[in-house]
Amino acid sequence: MNRTVEPASSLNGTVHLPPDKSISHRSALFAAIAEGKSVIKNYSEAADPQSTLECLRQLGVSVKKDGNKVTIEGVGREGLQTPAAQLNCGNSGTTMRLLSGIVAGAGIECELVGDESLSSRTMKRIIDPLRAMGCTIDARDGEYAPIKIGGHKGIKPMRYPLPIASAQLKSCVLLAGLFGDSPTEVIEQLPSRDHTERLLDLKSDSYGQGKVIRSSVADVIPSQNYSVPADFSAAAFWLVGGAIHPAAEIQLKKVGINPSRKAALTILEKMGADLAVDNESAEGKEPVADLTISSSNLSAIDLDPALIPNCIDELPILMIAMAFADGISTITGAEELRHKETDRLEAMYDILDAAGVNAELAEDGITIHGDPNFTPQSATFKSYHDHRMAMAAAILATRADGDSTVKDAECTEISYPDFWTDLESLSA
Ligand code: S3P
Repeated sequence: MNRTVEPASSLNGTVHLPPDKSISHRSALFAAIAEGKSVIKNYSEAADPQSTLECLRQLGVSVKKDGNKVTIEGVGREGLQTPAAQLNCGNSGTTMRLLSGIVAGAGIECELVGDESLSSRTMKRIIDPLRAMGCTIDARDGEYAPIKIGGHKGIKPMRYPLPIASAQLKSCVLLAGLFGDSPTEVIEQLPSRDHTERLLDLKSDSYGQGKVIRSSVADVIPSQNYSVPADFSAAAFWLVGGAIHPAAEIQLKKVGINPSRKAALTILEKMGADLAVDNESAEGKEPVADLTISSSNLSAIDLDPALIPNCIDELPILMIAMAFADGISTITGAEELRHKETDRLEAMYDILDAAGVNAELAEDGITIHGDPNFTPQSATFKSYHDHRMAMAAAILATRADGDSTVKDAECTEISYPDFWTDLESLSA
């Protein structure tokens, strides 16, 4: 399905954001291996978190849905059942990587599959440590889904310095570690999102510049009532949309502002965004706040590579902000963007180029020559079937000199099913 995006004369109003995708996945996975019932309020209806629920059902977990409320009867660490069919993770890297840690740790024989995009993303990063922990695990060409996990029980605890700053990898190893008799230790130098550690109350200590996080069978997995905050990564599209539009004021309520997730907020503030953070409170173990963004005069920025894991999903939309900022902005150290739902460095370069942005692509980043008076050329933007590319192109198109088209726009279902309706109501 293609979407026409008209230039918006203004962007005003309050957006009802989707629930956080990362926290939705985790709350369901952790509730499944806890003992007893957990109720999750505000669970995401987007396709990726729904893939996680479907996989859990196949593993014999009772999952009941009542709109955004999900009730899970936890089966405990030992209660998962061998699935009758392949576990379909759809487009969701988080489902595949986190669930692999759990089924490998639990010794459940199964096969995990994904769609075309997920099947082309390397899983070597999780295969290597899981093998080192004693799991039997095979994959197509040694690194791609389908991933076959053998039903081998008895995880070997491991001390694991993370070779990549990835929350999915960190979580996979820690989740497998939950099944080990003594602690598995994951050493993290650059902080990535810490929802797993927070929701499971895992212990950690500082270690050099970073920290060491531990998990073992001694950690009690809490059955609890979760309440999922609004998704910061979805909010980021409106934060940039509002900042680059000359007639904008957008309110976003109860947005997750976990410090390991919100670098984009700090970056936009540093660029000069007119951004207010109010009513800071907590939603379960996660901090939240109301955010208001207004039309802004942005200046260019050289992104600190140490911040990349903290804003990895927001980098594409930050590139759009950079196109409207005064001066030359640079992103370096972001090679990981090439391993997302699509190669997001190439895809964003193409989107920016189609709109007439002057940019240079590098192996690990991009340089963007911004202009506060920039008017993008209307264009047909490819989404590469990647939700974040589709939404970034749409935000860019709100400032264009005519109607633009976003191709295969239905991919926003992956994280933000109401994106197009929200865009329409803000620009109405
Ligand atoms: C996620 C972690 C990130 C992010 C993804 C969700 C998570 O991936 O890009 O959308 O929920 O743990 P990496 O940790 O692999 O960078």
